[in-house]
Amino acid sequence: MAQRVVLAYSGGLDTSVAVRWMIENYGVEVITVACNLGQEGDWEGLQAKAFAAGAIEAIVVDCREEFANDFLIPSLKANALYEGKYPLVSALSRPTIVRHLVAAARAHGADAVAHGCTGKGNDQVRFEVATRALAPDLEILAPVRNWGMTREMSIEYAEAHDIPVLATKDKLYSIDDNLWGRAIECGEMEDPWARPPEGVWSMTTVRASEAKEITIGFERGVPVSVDGRVMPLHELVVELNDTVGAYGWGRLDMVENRRVGIKSRETYEAPAALALILAHQDLESITLERDVMHEKQRLEGRYADLVYDGMWFSPLKNALDAFVESTQQYVTGEVRLRLEPGRCFVVGRRSPHSLYDYGLATYDAADTFKHADSEGFVKLWGLGIQTWAAKQSANPDAGE
Ligand code: ARG
Repeated sequence: MAQRVVLAYSGGLDTSVAVRWMIENYGVEVITVACNLGQEGDWEGLQAKAFAAGAIEAIVVDCREEFANDFLIPSLKANALYEGKYPLVSALSRPTIVRHLVAAARAHGADAVAHGCTGKGNDQVRFEVATRALAPDLEILAPVRNWGMTREMSIEYAEAHDIPVLATKDKLYSIDDNLWGRAIECGEMEDPWARPPEGVWSMTTVRASEAKEITIGFERGVPVSVDGRVMPLHELVVELNDTVGAYGWGRLDMVENRRVGIKSRETYEAPAALALILAHQDLESITLERDVMHEKQRLEGRYADLVYDGMWFSPLKNALDAFVESTQQYVTGEVRLRLEPGRCFVVGRRSPHSLYDYGLATYDAADTFKHADSEGFVKLWGLGIQTWAAKQSANPDAGE
């Protein structure tokens, strides 16, 4: 049985209660690790809370740059959208947190890590599979999954143990946020027919009415500038969340298939993530050769599934990263996005490595395309079909 545990700590009700509950029920020492991934947070207050709950050490790590560079960039290069829509906001954050849990466990001689997930979600899968990939020797504890307390009982437990929590017994939503966006679950949205109440949105409340255009600059698949101003990705994402979110664009409302077999109604807002993926995909349309682009698109869904399913640290994910990376060499250039209330769309793209050839594409006098070459090509392209039609005549449209 573990003696010293590193707990992924958010400062919320469950993880605060988990500190004391593990001390009492497992007889362990608890070290908390809170990761700043770009979410709102009172980091000092959070440390005080962890100590008040009984932690022997409370660590806060600023992971914003690391999160952007090591997790968001590869995912963006892969245009990763789970079920074609969700930019993996929560799924990308868990392997980042696990890195720091494991580092803290090593630094403080802990023999276990713990998380505050329930048994119904994806996040337990991500925490545990990532931990087993990075530190197979560590024990994994999941107190919230095992304690059998309702939310009300947890609040009573906190009160009885003088654990400071802000929670009220009728908290409506479960929210998880970071640089890449915000997930809002529960409450009345558990009915998939019910429209999400306006109050659930915070990044995408409409604040702008004048249409405008912005230019995103990319280098080898990585967004590096907005309107020519060069900045690191973690800052660029913060700026775009504000700029694009102000137009009320970047919301998702979907019923999603969780890894554990549950269909779940999810709402998200991810204005920067969705705008960047849109722009990146568009830049690829002029910089990737056709077969590479089609094969890449085929693998992007698989990539998103792996990340969603907690397989960030896995050999297939590594292999797909290598493929994706090899496609990004010429994905350099600029994309113009137009913002209008409720809309964000591409209105222009250019690249020094563009495969778009005006002479080949134009219908004007500048045409350099050899029209006569098409005749033989199209004949051979259709030859097999012509033979089949003549010999087997199975085509009902042939009108025998
Ligand atoms: N369904 C999303 C996912 O699996 C969001 C999860 C949000 N997590 C949370 N603890 N509220 O990635």
